[in-house]
Amino acid sequence: MIDDRLPLLDLHRHLDGNIRPNTILELGQHFKMQLPANTLAGLRPHVQVQDNAPDLVSFLAKLDWGVKVLGNYDACRRVAYENIEDLSQAGIHYAELRFSPGYMAMHHDLDSQGVVEAVLDGVAAGSRDFGIPVNLIGIMSRTFGQAACEQELAACLAYKDRLVAIDLAGDELGFPGELFVAHFKRVRDAGLRVTVHAGEAAGSSSIWQAIKELGAERIGHGVNAIEDEALLDYLAEHNISIESCLTSNLQTSTVSDLSAHPIHTFLARDIRVCLNTDDPAVHGIELRHEYSTAANAAGLTPAHLRRCQENALAMAFMSAEQRAKLA
Ligand code: ADE
Ligand code: ZN
Repeated sequence: MIDDRLPLLDLHRHLDGNIRPNTILELGQHFKMQLPANTLAGLRPHVQVQDNAPDLVSFLAKLDWGVKVLGNYDACRRVAYENIEDLSQAGIHYAELRFSPGYMAMHHDLDSQGVVEAVLDGVAAGSRDFGIPVNLIGIMSRTFGQAACEQELAACLAYKDRLVAIDLAGDELGFPGELFVAHFKRVRDAGLRVTVHAGEAAGSSSIWQAIKELGAERIGHGVNAIEDEALLDYLAEHNISIESCLTSNLQTSTVSDLSAHPIHTFLARDIRVCLNTDDPAVHGIELRHEYSTAANAAGLTPAHLRRCQENALAMAFMSAEQRAKLA
């Protein structure tokens, strides 16, 4: 399924969407919190998708318990470290992990900058212990509005030399990209790269906006580009890349049938697209499972899968030095 001559990369993976159910249980008990269940089996339905969610916002609620148990900076460090251990167990050779410091901080009144520091620490320790190169992407969670995103951005920019990019995630329909034009001007002025969740819950105009007004070089999901011929041409011509997450798209009801997923059109039109996990612990999947799903449920050929692996290498926000080591 996976071409072992090529490295396996996950470029769209939320660190705060990948908190182990068992860790949620342990941290919840440690901080004496009232969890919805006191056993792993009881907790699972509250933190992992069982049946597909009716829409993106309902799906996103499944991430909440993972961050609610982050009672101090050590807890943030722990989940960051465990994320790297998970990469190692999943046989991933390079990853870009994204996280929203404000979302991780808000439930216990932590300081967003302290959360960024803790995540940097945990990731550095894990990356060293497991020998996996990782780059980090700061997220602005649009769901909490413009002002909260300004604070998150400030926390990220305080460590801009240790991040590669900034993303915009959360409720795309309720908080359209227009609200974040000034934020992304600061991102670009700081020399950081830009990826934006767009065309997942909203239509193709959201993708145009992310490219033209926010400066997105990569698009998270981008499913609804399929409705716009001119946009498909533009993506191919300008190498605007798509970070595709198949199981996520099913579980958020962004698509109803993987055999008709737009990834077929993206590949056919030479749009750079790759396969990713999104929120592995919440979806209950790993990257190798996504490659199997792409073959078995979406019907991609081995050549398509190899192209996805090559595209991920081309799309990655990695340094020349990192690239040389991986090849
Ligand atoms: N945050 C975590 N997963 C997400 C998704 N699929 N879309 C938007 N924001 C997210
Ligand atoms: Zn995502």
